[in-house]
Amino acid sequence: MKALILAGGSGTRLRPITYTGAKQLVPVANKPILFYVLDNIVAAGIKDIGIIISPETGQEIRRAVDQAGLWSARINYIIQEKPLGLAQAVATARSFLADSPFVMYLGDNLIGKNISDFVDAFHRNAPDAQILLKEVPNPSSFGIATVDPGGRVIKLVEKPPQPESNLALVGIYIFSPKIFEAIEAISPSARGELEITDAIQRLIDWNLQVNSDIIHEWWLDTGKKDDLLNANRIVLDELIQADIKVIPGPDSKITGRVVVPADVTIRNSTIRGPAIIGSGVRIVDSFIGPFSSIGNNSSILNSSIEHVVLLEHCEINGIDRLEDSILGRNAVVRKNHSKRGTISLIISDDSVIEL
Ligand code: DAU
Repeated sequence: MKALILAGGSGTRLRPITYTGAKQLVPVANKPILFYVLDNIVAAGIKDIGIIISPETGQEIRRAVDQAGLWSARINYIIQEKPLGLAQAVATARSFLADSPFVMYLGDNLIGKNISDFVDAFHRNAPDAQILLKEVPNPSSFGIATVDPGGRVIKLVEKPPQPESNLALVGIYIFSPKIFEAIEAISPSARGELEITDAIQRLIDWNLQVNSDIIHEWWLDTGKKDDLLNANRIVLDELIQADIKVIPGPDSKITGRVVVPADVTIRNSTIRGPAIIGSGVRIVDSFIGPFSSIGNNSSILNSSIEHVVLLEHCEINGIDRLEDSILGRNAVVRKNHSKRGTISLIISDDSVIEL
C-alpha cells in the first residue's frame, strides 16, 4: 500500500494567510496540518508516500517536511503544474503509484481517528474504492453520497446545489489501480476540474465494488477561517497534554493543559489552557485564555486574548480583548495611545477586521 497526499491547489479560501504560504502548512495547535496527515499515514504502516505539490508552494512544503524529518518513510514530491482537480493530481502521480493500491489523503483534512482500520478493511475486502462518509450540516460544500438502505453507495455528486443527502465524502480514500481507467473516462466538471467524485461514480457505473464507512469521529476540512479556528479548538481540547518547561514567577499563573517551552518569558500574566505557546514567546502583563495557539517568537504585551491562532513573530500590544482571530506571520495589533478613538491600519489584500 502506498499513499498520495494532495498538497497542491491554490488555497484561495484561506486568504490572506495563504498569500505567503501553502494552506497545508497553516498550523493547528502550532503544528502544520500536513504533519498530522503524515503522522496518520505512517501510523498505518505505510512507508511509500507521494506528495503532490504545486510550482508556487511546493518548495516550501518540501523544506518543511524535509527539515522536520519526523517520518520513517520514503517521501517523493510530485509536481502538478496546475490545480486541475483531485483526479488530475492522481493521474499526475501514476508512475509513482504504479500498480499498487493507495490511500489518497487531502493535505488540508484533519480527522480524529487513525486510518489503520480503514486500511485493514481495504486489505480484507479488496474493493476498487473505499470511501469515508460523514454527516455534515452544509452538504452543498462537499462531495455528497447517496447510499441505498443496504449501505451501498449508488450516487456521488460534487458540491450539489440541492443535495440528496447529508453524507459528505471525507478527503481520505483508498483505491485500486482501476481508478486510473475511471479517471481516463471522465471529463472536466463545470468548475474546470477533473473530479475524483466523478471518477468514483464511474467505478459505481461499471458495477465495481465501492465500499463506504460512515465515521462518527470529528473531521475538519480546514478550508476557511472558522474551520481553522474550530480545528485548533478541537485539537487543543483532545490532543494536548500539559508540558510546562518554565516555572512561572510568583506574579504569574498557568492552569489547565498548557504547553510552554523552556525559552518562553512569562511576567505578571495568566495562561489558562488548553493552550500551546511557541518557542521564544514573550507574555508580559497579559491573559492568554483557552484555545489559543501562539506561534514561535510572538509577543503578547499588556493584552487579553482567547481562542486565537497566531502564526510566528506576531505582536499583540495593549489590546483589551482579542478573540476568535487568526493572525498571519509578523502581524502586529497594537494600541496607539496618541490616536484615541481612531484606528490606523496597514493590512494586506483580503484581510478582515471586525471592530
Ligand atoms: O475535504 C473534503 C472534500 O474535498 C470532498 O468532500 C470533495 O468531494 C472533494 O472534491 C474536496 O473538495 P474541496 O473543494 O475541499 O477540495 P480542494 O480544492 O480544497 O482541494 C483539496 C486538497 O487537494 C487541498 O489540499 C489542495 C489539493 N489539491 C487540489 C486541487 C484542486 C491538489 O493538490 N491539486 C488540485 O488540483
